[in-house]
Amino acid sequence: MKLLLGWKLAIAVAVRGAVGLEYPDCINGPLANSTVCDVTASPADRAAALVKLMSVAEKLDNLVDMAKGVPRLGLPPYAWWSEALHGVALSPGVTFNFTGIHFSNATSFANTITLAAAFDDDLVYQVASAISTEARAFANAGLAGLDYWSPNVNPYKDPRWGRGHEVRDPALFTTTIITGQGVTENLDQTPGEDPVRIKGYAKAFLTGLEGDGPARKVIATCKHYAAYDLERWQGVTRHDFNAVVSLQDLVEYYLPPFETCARDVNVGSIMCSYNAVNGTPACANTYLMDDILRKHWNWTAHNNYVTSDCNAIQNFLPSLHNFSQTPAEAAAAALNAGTDTICEVPGWPPYTDVAGAYRQGLVSEAVIDRALHRLYEGLVRVGYFDPPTSASPAASYRSLGASDVSTLEHQALAFQSAADGLVLLKNVNGTLPLRDVIPFPPVTLTGRPVAIIGHWAAPNAHVLGGYSGVPPYLLSPLHGAELLQLNYTYAAGPPVAAAAAAAAPDAPDGWTAPALAAAGAADVILYFGGTDLSVASEDRDRDSLAWPPAQLSLVEALASLGKPLVVAQLGDQLDDAPLLANPNVSAVLWAGYPGQAGGLVALYAILGLAAPAGRLPVTQYAADYARRVDMTDMRLRPDPAPRPADGRGAAPRRDRPAGESSAAAAAAPFPGRTYRWLPPSSPLSTLPFGFGLHYTRFRARLGVFPTLSFTTASLLAGCANSTAYPYPDLCPFPVTVSVWVSNLAAPQDPGGGVTSDYVALVFAAGEYGPRPYPVKTLVGYKRLRAIGPGQTQAAVVDIKLGDLARVDTNGNRILYPGRYKFVLDVGQDGNGVDEVEFDVTGDEVVLDVWPQPRAQP
Ligand SMILES: *[C@@H]1O[C@H](CO)[C@@H](O)[C@H](O)[C@H]1NC(C)=O
Ligand SMILES: *[C@@H]1O[C@H](CO)[C@@H](O)[C@H](O)[C@H]1NC(C)=O
Ligand SMILES: *[C@@H]1O[C@H](CO)[C@@H](O)[C@H](O)[C@H]1NC(C)=O
Ligand SMILES: *[C@@H]1O[C@H](CO)[C@@H](O)[C@H](O)[C@H]1NC(C)=O
Ligand SMILES: *[C@@H]1O[C@H](CO)[C@@H](O)[C@H](O)[C@H]1NC(C)=O
Ligand SMILES: *[C@@H]1O[C@H](CO)[C@@H](O)[C@H](O)[C@H]1NC(C)=O
Ligand SMILES: *[C@@H]1O[C@H](CO)[C@@H](O)[C@H](O)[C@H]1NC(C)=O
Ligand SMILES: *[C@@H]1O[C@H](CO)[C@@H](O)[C@H](O)[C@H]1NC(C)=O
Ligand SMILES: *[C@@H]1O[C@H](CO)[C@@H](O)[C@H](O)[C@H]1NC(C)=O
Repeated sequence: MKLLLGWKLAIAVAVRGAVGLEYPDCINGPLANSTVCDVTASPADRAAALVKLMSVAEKLDNLVDMAKGVPRLGLPPYAWWSEALHGVALSPGVTFNFTGIHFSNATSFANTITLAAAFDDDLVYQVASAISTEARAFANAGLAGLDYWSPNVNPYKDPRWGRGHEVRDPALFTTTIITGQGVTENLDQTPGEDPVRIKGYAKAFLTGLEGDGPARKVIATCKHYAAYDLERWQGVTRHDFNAVVSLQDLVEYYLPPFETCARDVNVGSIMCSYNAVNGTPACANTYLMDDILRKHWNWTAHNNYVTSDCNAIQNFLPSLHNFSQTPAEAAAAALNAGTDTICEVPGWPPYTDVAGAYRQGLVSEAVIDRALHRLYEGLVRVGYFDPPTSASPAASYRSLGASDVSTLEHQALAFQSAADGLVLLKNVNGTLPLRDVIPFPPVTLTGRPVAIIGHWAAPNAHVLGGYSGVPPYLLSPLHGAELLQLNYTYAAGPPVAAAAAAAAPDAPDGWTAPALAAAGAADVILYFGGTDLSVASEDRDRDSLAWPPAQLSLVEALASLGKPLVVAQLGDQLDDAPLLANPNVSAVLWAGYPGQAGGLVALYAILGLAAPAGRLPVTQYAADYARRVDMTDMRLRPDPAPRPADGRGAAPRRDRPAGESSAAAAAAPFPGRTYRWLPPSSPLSTLPFGFGLHYTRFRARLGVFPTLSFTTASLLAGCANSTAYPYPDLCPFPVTVSVWVSNLAAPQDPGGGVTSDYVALVFAAGEYGPRPYPVKTLVGYKRLRAIGPGQTQAAVVDIKLGDLARVDTNGNRILYPGRYKFVLDVGQDGNGVDEVEFDVTGDEVVLDVWPQPRAQP
């Protein structure tokens, strides 16, 4: 708790004291005639020239996130820590013009989990591209850095994880971001539980953020490498957790997003994580950091850099990982393993003793130079040392300014990012959209009163989720009701996580009576509830997956009135089983963390002004799941053993409290994690990954295959040219997989039928490769847009052989012979799935030979 508090205060201080950005003067400054300022020299030579000018003492000043620069050389201080998860966000490197107009705000797009639910990588690209445009404009004004520690690509394996959506507690930044119109902070961060989804998201996001031109627009950072998805659970924290992961799970599940970042996109930076992996802290783990990241994934071309998570190196000390005995030893272990810059949380000593590490001979000058080369080559590549007047490609970004921030286009994109991520989870008898109740235009509820109830109906910064900046505005459902001139009554409902009942059972709770009064007078009840950052966020995992009891009681009381009742759900997945089973709950719509326009968007969708077509990027687990499975248990496959036999997953040197979950899970087998291993029929799965209803009926079919019989060799035949396909796992499936989607509504249907997007999800299933076999595996997806009533659209879904392959216990990715099928969609909405079966014969082919771990020092 003390740590938690200290951390938050420290960040608040850091944000207030953000240093901003100063470009070196490459025209008149001391560096002007150095190669580092010569835009015609190679980035490697430019970085080397700079490092060569620095004395050892100056070098040692520049290996932490708040780098001091070198005044003698006119090299300004530089804050490596800026954030831009779903918009330019407050962080030590970023500040807003709190008292001004220009740069007073930045567009806040839907947070990652919501954007992931849209299953549209073109949209992800556009959002990220808009973010980096705004980021460069902020940087040019001296208000932000050029390195952004986004995205978070850890698979969201456990629904309790506080950063799965990624959301940071708004309290962190409250002091600095009240601008008179509210607060903005939002962390729902990861693109869900499925590696294929995350890989697609990461590639699109990174391409948008870093740009696809000749120069990097900004440097992005894939985090947190690796096997990080626990904040604070039953006495175990991210700062001391040792994730014990089998090689098979590591390669198949925890690492693929990082492979995409490093090997396939050549991301500018990677952040190593707090936790240890199989006994060695991630930032000191030479197997992960060198054998895999730099060597196996060939992440060397641009001398890209690794940053530690903030205070991760301090965590090596005896009170946490007990990997290093002194701050100097910790710094040396990190630098020697390939960590290039160490993030420190200001105000939270002991600081990393980089200087001591050098003085004591624990780290060589060559290692220090290697780190500095990587860091400054990164800055060279984003044009930090290019005079704005130079003709270099990176210098062109120097012209971005305030007029490129919060543009109308970006506002529209923020709206779309929220709308496209909405997922419809229940809709009895087509209650939604309510537009036959509320004709539009004009939207007046002539004689039709509406009750709007719940904690996120009113303006609420929590819609932004974590890692947020200051948005230009925050549109709530109530703003929407005003805008559309609804005849509504508002009641606040219970606080997000209020206790079940007042101390005295009969004592009024303060929220039920006003809510029932509003609902009693209404024809339609709209409840805006769910969880927010106060329930799960950075440094805060959830204990329960159930609806907070006070909210559930109120929803049930509202349902007993027997009126149309729509539940719009903010935040994380909760076990919706009680709502799905209640015949009087007409509809459930999940919005996640939808960003600055999210409240308005949810109301618009309820009224039919947007048609939800997103899909769950995570499994919605039953509440019991939290009692059956330990957060520390990194296994994925179901297992008769309730726990890893050797106590794997337990925190090092800490007694596990005999909490409720430990006791209940003592005897039951481990049920498995994610939709790949937990069958949809399991009582522990309430709604499957990929679930999402529509306002219309679709029929979706796979196109015809010219052949249903392959050999492993024939699958790979098109990729024999190893220059074009250096990595066989990226080889495309040789037959075009097309989907044909028909909107079965007829123009003569009530309201003329609804035009809607449709997300095609293609899974592979079958008994091939090592046992046990996954239920199915996502291999491709595509969002088809605006399919009108009576229309049919076709699209091609890209499938790569590596995603069809399986991983063996040594981590090798292998294409196996066997009987396969492609399965389209998840079987919902009264629609079955469409399937195509095919045979693969011939020999097993290893697509990726995995380097085996060596003993750690
Ligand atoms: C750079 O070189 C030019 C030409 O030799 C000289 O006039 C100028 O003073 C030098 N600038 C610095 C900062 O040394
Ligand atoms: C901050 O806003 C004020 C007033 O709008 C403006 O004069 C000033 O230039 C802004 N600062 C920056 C860095 O743009
Ligand atoms: C947000 O920032 C933009 C660009 O700097 C500015 O034009 C606009 O007035 C700001 N909006 C608000 C609400 O301050
Ligand atoms: C690995 O990187 C090196 C250096 O950039 C490059 O020459 C080589 O072709 C890369 N290997 C593959 C398989 O891409
Ligand atoms: C920490 O590690 C040191 C050195 O390996 C060892 O002597 C000490 O007992 C360890 N401390 C704890 C609390 O395990
Ligand atoms: C749905 O429609 C059926 C058949 O018309 C009706 O029996 C049922 O009561 C309706 N349910 C709701 C929640 O409106
Ligand atoms: C709003 O609803 C109430 C209750 O039915 C009704 O008395 C009132 O006339 C309505 N107001 C408008 C402007 O329609
Ligand atoms: C559903 O509404 C009807 C009134 O229409 C009521 O009689 C019934 O008890 C309600 N059921 C639930 C589960 O609230
Ligand atoms: C292999 O691919 C490379 C790159 O696409 C191409 O330049 C080369 O001509 C190809 N070689 C053959 C033999 O097709």
